[in-house]
Amino acid sequence: MFSMKVRWVKIFSSKDEMLQALGKRSSMEIRANGKDLVMLREEDQVYLIQNKCPHQGLSLKDAKCENGMVICPFHQYRFSLENGRGHGLYLERYPVEYRENGVFAGFEYFSIF
Ligand code: FES
Repeated sequence: MFSMKVRWVKIFSSKDEMLQALGKRSSMEIRANGKDLVMLREEDQVYLIQNKCPHQGLSLKDAKCENGMVICPFHQYRFSLENGRGHGLYLERYPVEYRENGVFAGFEYFSIF
């Protein structure tokens, strides 16, 4: 029987380390679980998304967040950070979880077990 599972991968040792890495920037590139990702910050909220705009595949490393939307720097397409939708396209998002032993990103996968 197939089922969807989540693999949690540590991306920072602590929330402080993550915030230090972000500094004053609102976005930064990271690589985790073999994927190129972008971490975005809007006030106290942090999001993790694919580093590839669904429109033309360009990097989202300089994307901005505004009212729960990510805005691509190239053609200003907007994608919801809640459901990934925008302009009939879909942006992959990854959950971020703070734990005692670090900051983790979640990656879904299919399992036969
Ligand atoms: S490449 Fe992102 S909106 Fe066009």
